[in-house]
Amino acid sequence: MMTVNDSLPGPVIRVQKGDTVYVNVHNHGGYGVTIHWHGVKQPRNPWSDGPEYVTQCPIEPGSNFTYEVIFSKEEGTLWWHAHSDWTRAGVHGAIVVYPKEGTTYPFEEPDGEEVVVLGSWYKADVNKEVEEDLSSGSDTPRSDAYVINGQPGDFCDCSKDFTYRWSVDYGKRYIIRLVNAVMNAEMFFAIGQHNFTVVGMDGAYIKPLVTSFVMIAPGQTMDILVTANQSLGQYYMATRQYDSVKPDVTDYDKVNATAILQYTGNYTDTSAPFFPDTLPIYYDYISAIYFMSHIRSLANEEYPVDVPRNITTFMYITASMGEVDFVNGSDTRIGLASSLNNVSWVNPSTDVLMAYYRNLSGYFTTDFPDWPEKFFNFTADDVPDEYEVAIQGTKVKMLNYNEEVEIVFQGTNVMDASEDHPMHLHGYAFYVVGAGYGNFDNETDPESYNLVDPPEVNTVSLPKKGWTAIRFRASNPGVWLWHCHLDRHYSWGMTTVFIVKNGGTPETSIREPPPYMPPCKDSSLQ
Ligand code: C2O
Ligand code: CU
Repeated sequence: MMTVNDSLPGPVIRVQKGDTVYVNVHNHGGYGVTIHWHGVKQPRNPWSDGPEYVTQCPIEPGSNFTYEVIFSKEEGTLWWHAHSDWTRAGVHGAIVVYPKEGTTYPFEEPDGEEVVVLGSWYKADVNKEVEEDLSSGSDTPRSDAYVINGQPGDFCDCSKDFTYRWSVDYGKRYIIRLVNAVMNAEMFFAIGQHNFTVVGMDGAYIKPLVTSFVMIAPGQTMDILVTANQSLGQYYMATRQYDSVKPDVTDYDKVNATAILQYTGNYTDTSAPFFPDTLPIYYDYISAIYFMSHIRSLANEEYPVDVPRNITTFMYITASMGEVDFVNGSDTRIGLASSLNNVSWVNPSTDVLMAYYRNLSGYFTTDFPDWPEKFFNFTADDVPDEYEVAIQGTKVKMLNYNEEVEIVFQGTNVMDASEDHPMHLHGYAFYVVGAGYGNFDNETDPESYNLVDPPEVNTVSLPKKGWTAIRFRASNPGVWLWHCHLDRHYSWGMTTVFIVKNGGTPETSIREPPPYMPPCKDSSLQ
C-alpha cells in the first residue's frame, strides 16, 4: 500500500482555528497522487482542495506540490486523504483543530486526547486489484481486514501481538478524535463498559449526545468525551460494519477490528478484556437511524445556526447504482456504474478548475440536470428497465454567488441492492434539515424540516430507499466536488461538480492560482 511518512494511518495534523498550513507532498510512490483536506472549507482557495481532475491534475511520481490549507471556521476533528483512484486506502490521517488562542471548548477542557482512525487494509496494491477486477468483470476488491489505528486486533489471529493499546488513568476525562477512513462501509463503534458523549461532528460542535455506541459513515469525523471511571482493567474498543443492505452472511455479530483501552496502575488483570455488548450487529439499521437522527447542532448565542430560508435553487437528485451506456471509443458495452440523476461522472483530461478559470472549452458542460428525467416510484423493487441505464458525462452545476440552495437526495432501488450513500460536499458544510424513508413528498415532507438546530456537516448518510434534504448558502466561490464517499460508488461515477461563481469583488472571488500547479497530460493548454 502507498502510505505517508511510512505509517498507517499517516501523521496527525494539529492546528488552531484560523491557522494556515503548508503541506509539501513529495510523491515517492508508483503512481500519481493528490491530497484532499476533508471538511476544510478552503475559502476561495479551490486550488488546494485536491480531487484529481476536478481541482488539479495528479502529482506524478518523482514530483511534488505544496498545498495551502486554510482553516477558517472548522473546530474539532477532520481528516486528510488521497483523492486519486483508490489510493486513500493507505494515504490518510486525522486533523485536529483546537480552539483559537484565548477561546475555549463549549465543554470542560479534557485531560487527554486520543486519535482513533478506522480504516481498511489490503494485502496488495489496491489500485492494481481494482484494475484487475474491473478488466476481469468482477466486483471491486473487498478489503482484507478492517483496522483501528492500523491494526485489526485480537480477533484476527495473525495480528494479536500488535493490537493497538491506549492507556488511560483512572478518573480522567478524554476526548476521542474518531475518523472513519474505511473505503466502503459505514461502521459502528463502541467501548466495553464505557458510555460516552458525542460533542462534535465534522468539525463543528453539537449538543452533547450520551450514547453507548456510534454509527459513523465513511468521511465522517466525531469528537467524543469518555471518562475513565470503570474498574481498573482492559476494555475493547470495537468496530463492526453496518450494512444497510442485508448481508449475505450468517455471522451478523462478527467483530471487524478491535483495540484495547487499558487502565494504568498496579492491578492484576486475569480476565479477557470486556467486550462492548452495546455494539450493534451488522444489519441493525434501527440503531443506525436512531443514532443519526439524534444529532443536533448547538444552536446557541455563541454557536448560532444560519439555515437558508429563501431558497433560490432547488435540486432533486437521485443516487443510483445501475447500468450505464459506456461511450468510450469502441467500447459499447452496457456495464455497471453509479450515477446522480442518471449521469455517471467522467473525469476530464484537464481539471475542471483550470478549464473554468482559463476559459478552456471542451472539458465539461454545464448541463447537470436539476431533476431526474422521469419520475416513478424510486423506492420500488422494480425500477423500469429503461431508467436503469445512465449516460456518461462531465456535467457540472453552476451556482451564482450566495445563492441559497436546497437539495433533496433520493436513494433509488435499482437492482434490488439499495444501500446508504454517504454524500459529501467539498468546500462547504451544509445543514441537514430533513430525512425519511420512502419517496420524498414535496407537499408534506418540508413541513417536518428542522430549521432550528439541524446538524451542520460535510457528509450525510442518505438512507437506503429514503431521502435526505440539505441546505447551504453558496458563499464560497470555486469548483467543488459532490460525491458518495464509498469509493466503490465514487469511482463508478456517483459524483458531480458545483461551480460557484465569483461574487463581483476581489474578496468574493476565487484566488489567483499558485505559481505552480502539477501539469496535466495535455499541458500545452496551460
Ligand atoms: Cu473525503 Cu471528496 O472526500
Ligand atoms: Cu454510494
